[in-house]
Amino acid sequence: DLLDTSKDPALALADLRQELLGRNDLPDWTTRATQPVFGEGAVGAPLLFVGEQPGDEEDIQGRPFVGPAGRLFNRAMEAAGLPRDAAYVTNAVKHFKFTPTGKRRLHQSPDAGDITYYRPFLLREVGLVAPKLVVALGASALQALTGKKLPVMKTRGTTVTALEGHPVFATVHPSYLLRIPDQEGQAREFSRFVEDLKAAGQQTA
Ligand code: URA
Repeated sequence: DLLDTSKDPALALADLRQELLGRNDLPDWTTRATQPVFGEGAVGAPLLFVGEQPGDEEDIQGRPFVGPAGRLFNRAMEAAGLPRDAAYVTNAVKHFKFTPTGKRRLHQSPDAGDITYYRPFLLREVGLVAPKLVVALGASALQALTGKKLPVMKTRGTTVTALEGHPVFATVHPSYLLRIPDQEGQAREFSRFVEDLKAAGQQTA
């Protein structure tokens, strides 16, 4: 049951965090992370964005989407005319998974087991925030939200399923834009991303 109606949703969200902090069966690699990174934003925000997992800066600050991908996300939201405070942002996986390589901490993609582990938390988070639209940013989020491996490029810009009445809309992860080598390609893909965000925003209007 995604919706706990017995309690103020903001309090229930805080409980959910405490519950994750108290778990003694977390995946082994989470001991390398500084801290879990939880969602941020208001209960009842019309849009709930789901990323993959916190990155290096998010792990240090304990806040989602504050690193390079987050800054790009903010720029795209602004270009789409969507105030970031209309959005609740979170991740499919709540700890930073990385390979320690000397000084740098190299991002490691979460595997299916990691996504499955955090999935119940994510689904309860969605139920408590109760957005009009859930936006999956990239493949891991899409997998976490749908339970299926859907192709991002073929589903982007569309609503792929609904979670207890909350439709799930697919688009790319902002990190995908950061990995495009040429400026022209980057600009083109940025515009496409902004178009997806606008389409998402219109669904909540
Ligand atoms: N990438 C994500 O998927 N989430 C963050 O919070 C930051 C980067």
